[in-house]
Amino acid sequence: MTFSLSKIINLDPPTFVPDAVIVGAGVIGLSIAWRLSQKGMRVVIVDPKPLGGASWVAAGMLAPVSEANPGEEELVRLGLKSLQRYPSFVKELEDFSQMEVGYISSGTLEVGLDANDRAEIEFLHSFRSKLGLETKLLDSTATRKVEPSLSPGIQASVSIEQEHQVDNRLLCQALLKAVYLGGGYFYQATIAELKFDEKKPLKTLVAENGIKISSPNIVIAAGAWSGDIKGIIPQLPIYPIKGQTLRVRLPESYLGYQKIIRGLAKGYHVYMVPRKHGEIIIGATVEDKGFDTTITVEGIYELLRNITSLLPNISEATIEETLAGLRPGSPNNAPILGSFATQGLFVATGHYRNGILLTPVTSDALSDCVIDQVDPAYIEYFSPNRFLKDA
Ligand code: GLY
Repeated sequence: MTFSLSKIINLDPPTFVPDAVIVGAGVIGLSIAWRLSQKGMRVVIVDPKPLGGASWVAAGMLAPVSEANPGEEELVRLGLKSLQRYPSFVKELEDFSQMEVGYISSGTLEVGLDANDRAEIEFLHSFRSKLGLETKLLDSTATRKVEPSLSPGIQASVSIEQEHQVDNRLLCQALLKAVYLGGGYFYQATIAELKFDEKKPLKTLVAENGIKISSPNIVIAAGAWSGDIKGIIPQLPIYPIKGQTLRVRLPESYLGYQKIIRGLAKGYHVYMVPRKHGEIIIGATVEDKGFDTTITVEGIYELLRNITSLLPNISEATIEETLAGLRPGSPNNAPILGSFATQGLFVATGHYRNGILLTPVTSDALSDCVIDQVDPAYIEYFSPNRFLKDA
């Protein structure tokens, strides 16, 4: 079942003063809006194109371990906390929205194609083991026992049982419905500026069309566009990182993938996420090209070359969709979470490659920030106030 956005979006601004305005209707903004409405707040969500950002393009991997790189230990801790929250978050959302979100406890197999790729996989395995993460190194034979469709040339892999997946598009729709059922008001507009006076309780958002909305609480959750709102000083250091993806489908006779397969193919990263009903998401390029979402021959060629060198039978699949999204990149790949600069202004952005994974923990943390007007200790490392000293 899907939930139609066109039925709930308003072209007119709200005629009431909301308790909170959320700028951005991706999974982060929606999940915060849902939590706030559960806590009794009247919420407005403003977005020029709800679900038009990275949330819809994502693959839905819940992968704090296989996304972990040296220097990102705090991010791993936050990711694991969110992963742990996922089952109860999903149950609550599914019960409330009466929609399924396709949560599957699949596990990840991270493979290396040649000797250099194997060395990199072994290095990552050792780094992650030192962090106490559960990963298991498998040789070529053991790897192909887990997934017989892998190329015979595969050198080694790491199995990560605790990583799962959710269908990001079902998650988007369930959150949209949950916010709507909770009384949230969707206003279609692009916010251009924030205006506030320290002495006054209400802050005012000004849309590109000149319309103003005032509220005591504003949450900036506009993904890759979060740095573009004037009046937020210092400007949030968010930059778009493009990811091209493919959605393909294998013939019935080839179905049977259970695990997320990701890996290195001659130094190139690639992943595939198999959904329940035969759809496979292949991703993703990592490109610093500004706000460009064009699909390129080079991008798609690279993805297909890399994935078919790991899984030759993917060449039998039909291509259903190509799509590019803009991840909200941030310094150190760390999200920016919490209250910022003035009372009543909050930020939840910069989730980079981990927006779907970090949705439960972000919505818990940010709704607590708004309700209690105090940031929870576990997001201290990610505070936007870390940028104040540079202003
Ligand atoms: N989380 C996967 C990606 O950003 O491509």
